[in-house]
Amino acid sequence: MLRLSHEFIFFVFAILVAQTKAKQLDSHYYEQTCPHVERIIRDVVHKATLSDTKVPPRILRMFFHDCFVRGCDASVLLDSTDDNLAEKDGPPNISLRAYYVIDKAKAKLEKACPQTVSCADIIAIAARDVVNLAGGPYWNVLKGRKDGKTSRANETLDLPTPSFNATKLIKLFSKKGLGIKDLVTLSGAHTLGFSHCSSFKSRIHRFDDNFDMDPSMDIMFANTLKQKCASKHNRDNNNSGYYLDSTSSVFDNEYYKRLVARKGVLATDQALYNDYRTKFLVESYARYEALFFVEFAASMVKLGNLGVNDHHHGEVREKCRFVN
Ligand code: HEM
Repeated sequence: MLRLSHEFIFFVFAILVAQTKAKQLDSHYYEQTCPHVERIIRDVVHKATLSDTKVPPRILRMFFHDCFVRGCDASVLLDSTDDNLAEKDGPPNISLRAYYVIDKAKAKLEKACPQTVSCADIIAIAARDVVNLAGGPYWNVLKGRKDGKTSRANETLDLPTPSFNATKLIKLFSKKGLGIKDLVTLSGAHTLGFSHCSSFKSRIHRFDDNFDMDPSMDIMFANTLKQKCASKHNRDNNNSGYYLDSTSSVFDNEYYKRLVARKGVLATDQALYNDYRTKFLVESYARYEALFFVEFAASMVKLGNLGVNDHHHGEVREKCRFVN
């Protein structure tokens, strides 16, 4: 009996701790201290998008890569130093590049409300804005994250690679507290953007002992990708690749329609349609765009809650590239 009540107390305590952690973030967090934070960030993101269409996918991906490594603490923004190679110089982050947009927003925010808005919150708000400006859903971003002080390139190995199968993807997401639905839903971010040939070349060249190309791909589409990547000219050009979706600057459900048509670019994308645990979600989102939008907003809020720092464990950086 005594043992049971100890367990019960522990259980209640665990719930309280979890609730306190969730409460750290709040959609009104800057209401008194920086009331125009959202407008300032949206303006910067909007202008940057008008002059470079690669900005939205890069910022959306940046949010994912930030949150999956050490939590959403802007560790992805820290520059390498003489004695430390930072996350942004880890292989998966080489093509993120849009850091300057966050720097611009931060500079404006430091003028409007000095030392108030964290870099981690700027990424979270900017990620919502790029989705919404591209025609996708809007959601209230919870705020109040603090910036971390550590960033290590070797920890980017925590990110999924395009060779993962569905089981590996599900396991990795569940390690972060994200379910199968979050995996399929967040992968819908690939409705925006581009992939380099290096991320899918194993599907179109010497796939295995029996097939040169991945047999789960539509044959015409596989040939298109092959043409894009296999010619000598394109092989020598490291920037060659293909759009992840046929409407790659619009946030819509086309990505899922293409998976159903076996025209996914990355093996990890197509795996979501090929696996019985994820297939019905892909089919549902391909059919009902509104459902995808509602679930995407919910999963982005969950992603944004990963490993959030409070003021005991983090700071508000003055410049996003350096610790204070
Ligand atoms: C499920 C596991 C995932 C894997 C294995 C994966 C892998 C990749 C790879 C290999 C690329 C192409 C990179 C390149 O060749 O330059 C890419 C692009 C991209 N990823 Fe993911 N990704 C995953 C999930 C996500 C999530 C959850 C998000 C955001 C919520 C996301 C957002 C993006 C975006 C927007 C792009 C396009 C980037 C650009 O155009 O610059 N990805 N991803």
